[in-house]
Amino acid sequence: MRQSIRLVYDGQLVEIDDAKPTDMALGWLRDRQLATGTKEGCNEGDCGACTVVLGRLGADGAIHYSAVNACILMLAQLDGAWLITVEDLGRDGVLDPIQQAMVDNNASQCGFCTPGFVMVTLAGQLSGSTLEAEAQLAGNLCRCTGYGGLLATARQALAAGKSQAWQDREDKIRPLLEDLQATGGFRLEHQGQVTEAPGNLDELLQAVAAAPNALLVAGATDVGLWLTKRLQQPALVIMTRYVTELQGIEVSDESIRIGSAVSYAQSASVLLDEYP
Ligand code: FES
Ligand code: FES
Repeated sequence: MRQSIRLVYDGQLVEIDDAKPTDMALGWLRDRQLATGTKEGCNEGDCGACTVVLGRLGADGAIHYSAVNACILMLAQLDGAWLITVEDLGRDGVLDPIQQAMVDNNASQCGFCTPGFVMVTLAGQLSGSTLEAEAQLAGNLCRCTGYGGLLATARQALAAGKSQAWQDREDKIRPLLEDLQATGGFRLEHQGQVTEAPGNLDELLQAVAAAPNALLVAGATDVGLWLTKRLQQPALVIMTRYVTELQGIEVSDESIRIGSAVSYAQSASVLLDEYP
């Protein structure tokens, strides 16, 4: 099993072998990469100031994008992902169209929330979200309450869809993501703390049988808070990320079976089909 995690960041493959479960993606970005465009507001997954976009290669061969709060995302959860931050936009002094729309709509005041709003809007654009702008921005707060301009920006970006420039960038990154996909699970030990991601259900069951008190993690939107607010120091975290057996949704005439590692967003789309 691998002793490191691998991700795509800043257009390159990055390998990390010294992460603890208590090392969060936001801290890695700001303190180790000195990428301070991603902001820390609440540090508890409420405000969206730390929003980054993750792109992951799906079983269908497409890259699936999601907006996540980097403050409560363990660094190890970035394994296999393309991590896109606000620094990926506006290269060479040319604003991304979303950033330009922010300017044109006077959508930034103190500016603290701005990178997060840009990124959650980008996630919607890249994923072809059909959400209304209000719903797309629902996880982000602007303390200066400049919502009129923010909504106008998001409406424009969602209507415009993914740009050719992003499509070109995606084509460059895809081979790196394909490379990452072939590497299975990992076990990372650093400073007495272990993060393990079994590659299948058998390995998961063995890992849990060997350490029944381990902290099991799927999305970690609760566990992230135990780490950043309660300052817990788990000795062993076991992730379900690569256990495909827990990630399926089966719909029959009589039932909907939802795997225990399926995300809320994934299950919501199926449930909404049945119960609009
Ligand atoms: Fe507020 Fe992450 S800093 S959600
Ligand atoms: Fe100040 Fe949004 S512009 S928090």
